[in-house]
Amino acid sequence: MKLFDTSPELLESPANASKDRLPVGNSFGWDFESLQRYQANHFRDLYVSEAVLEHEVQKVFGSSWLFVAVTDELPESGSFITLTLLGVPMAIVNQGNGQLKCFRNICSHRGMTLLSGSGKLGTHITCQYHQWSFNRQGDLVRIPQPDQFFGVELSELSLGSVAVEVWHEMIFVRMSENGPDFLEWISEMQGRLGAFLDGPLVEVGKVQYSVNCNWKFLVENHLDVYHLWYLHAKSLNAFDHRSFEWESLGDNWWSYEPLKASKNNLGGLPWIPDRDRVGIGAHLLFPNLMMVTTGDYFATYDAYPISPNETRITLRLRAEPGTDGETLISMVRSFLAEDIAACEALQSSTGYGGFGVGPLASTHERPLRNFHRSLRRHSGKPAGKLA
Ligand code: FES
Ligand SMILES: [Fe+2]
Repeated sequence: MKLFDTSPELLESPANASKDRLPVGNSFGWDFESLQRYQANHFRDLYVSEAVLEHEVQKVFGSSWLFVAVTDELPESGSFITLTLLGVPMAIVNQGNGQLKCFRNICSHRGMTLLSGSGKLGTHITCQYHQWSFNRQGDLVRIPQPDQFFGVELSELSLGSVAVEVWHEMIFVRMSENGPDFLEWISEMQGRLGAFLDGPLVEVGKVQYSVNCNWKFLVENHLDVYHLWYLHAKSLNAFDHRSFEWESLGDNWWSYEPLKASKNNLGGLPWIPDRDRVGIGAHLLFPNLMMVTTGDYFATYDAYPISPNETRITLRLRAEPGTDGETLISMVRSFLAEDIAACEALQSSTGYGGFGVGPLASTHERPLRNFHRSLRRHSGKPAGKLA
């Protein structure tokens, strides 16, 4: 048996899949050198190692656009939220001109945390320790007793800001100065989901919880077409998996499958194309934002790593105003529970030193391989300076 796949990179399109066969035991295309570059010695380290996670934070998450909040959380000029992102305390502030700013929530004097929770700023952010004052853009504007700080340039002591962008009310932040241009990165997904997301959707539910598995198991599961027939034999029986379509959009991923003809009934969102009203789409914004489009709602759930074997999921649902969000959340959550149980079982298997991956379905598991190829590609890029 060949332990690692050393064949040239394979074509991505399902239409071309019959032209090649993934070798037995391909381990998603990892070989010894790429594992070493990823701070791993064995395949299982990808799911259990602190060093691997640290590498991913720097190289993969740091240089990617991460979904962190929605604009409803920052409704007016001066509204702010705080969050810890990749270990760094950050704040996002509504600038009042349609712009958001995201900067370190750490005083540039002695490192005091400046803001907590969420709320509305006055004109300034003033540190409680020695009352250095910053404006809403994060620029240092006042130091008490300036004669004590002769030669200090205020302009060099602003709160380090990072790139922030909004796509259909979703706020994305990129922590590293290096990374893809937002509009280029999102453009193909916008082409596919733009009409869907243009409608009057509002957030009707949000829940956050943690699960006991590596974040990548959740993403792999989301990309796995093969399991739909089996793990979800009952819960997804209404869908015609044979007609499943998917496409790689760079590192991102789009998919669609229709309801079985006998079960056709239009979903409730009136502005979306008929095709979307009788089907379901699962999509990924690399690395960790999973999205689902249905005839009735739009769901996002991001897999944010807490440790190698613990991941925080934030599940958000958007639907028409007046939708019963609580019922919808519990329905989606109970469906996701099937996937999470499988991912947690895989995590348990990583206790076995020889944990690996056998032959993969040629088209139905190809997206998992593409995901790992994207991880390797990010791993080889310069890390860039994190916030
Ligand atoms: S730590 Fe903020 S002013 Fe001193
Ligand atoms: Fe699933």
